[in-house]
Amino acid sequence: MKWLGKKQPCWCKSGKSYGACHGNFDAILREYKKRGFMVPKRKIIKNQQQLAGIRESGKRNIAILDKVAEKICIGMSTEEINQIVHETTLALGGIPAPLGYEGFPKSVCTSINHEVCHGIPSKDVILKEGDIVNVDVSTLYNGYYSDSSRTFLMGEVSQEKKDLVRVAKECIDEGLKQVKPWKCMGDMGYAIFDYATKHGYTVVEDIGGHGIGLEFHEDPYVSYVTQPNTEMVMVPGMVFTIEPMINMGTFEVYVDEENGWTVYTEDHMPSAQWEVMVAVTEEGYEIMAY
Ligand code: MF3
Ligand code: CO
Repeated sequence: MKWLGKKQPCWCKSGKSYGACHGNFDAILREYKKRGFMVPKRKIIKNQQQLAGIRESGKRNIAILDKVAEKICIGMSTEEINQIVHETTLALGGIPAPLGYEGFPKSVCTSINHEVCHGIPSKDVILKEGDIVNVDVSTLYNGYYSDSSRTFLMGEVSQEKKDLVRVAKECIDEGLKQVKPWKCMGDMGYAIFDYATKHGYTVVEDIGGHGIGLEFHEDPYVSYVTQPNTEMVMVPGMVFTIEPMINMGTFEVYVDEENGWTVYTEDHMPSAQWEVMVAVTEEGYEIMAY
């Protein structure tokens, strides 16, 4: 790592001097590292200009999900959701990030009931009464990425599934309470795991959240199977997703062998997910997309 004098320009490209910007921050980070904590690399710490760009992308991601919320209904195919997302994204000046990402064929992920995530929209999949449907939207706007998802209830849904969806959302609230500078990612993951399991649910272990902003997926990997005081230290300027997948039955999952994408629960019991994109601030956090 390059050593900077107090009067040199800060590495974060804020335009301020190192002494007035990240000088003190780096000293604290070095202490954490010495004490054995995992600390973020400079490239995942965003400056104000980058945060403004990510915020603009996130606003569009929210607007796209709002549009889906307005239109989604029983009898609609998941391909129609794909079209709504695709067209709304383009109308807002963005690009749907999933399309072509590692070969993903559509502009959004739609995952129903026992589908955990990465469901592929299809004209043959029709939403029906009692379904729970996760719509996971990711947007590239002006060079910045955003990512968030919601689970929608279709008509009359069983009390069991409604509870699952509610607790999955409450898990986000529990996680967010832990997002503060100089706390650890493990504190956040533990809070979610603890909350879900206390309600009788399991948490998917093999798939997690991720850093985001300048790329679709950046460090850190965001696990919910963690202990307090472990994983990466959170610092202002980090942006990541919190997106736990909460299962009614077993936590075990498998990937569709034919399409290579869709993840299902091993026992075909329902799974629910909400995804929030947050930035760590000096005081706590800022929701960038939800
Ligand atoms: N939004 C998903 C995530 O959180 C996107 C998966 S990649 C895709 O990582 F290609 F399936 F979209
Ligand atoms: Co994500």
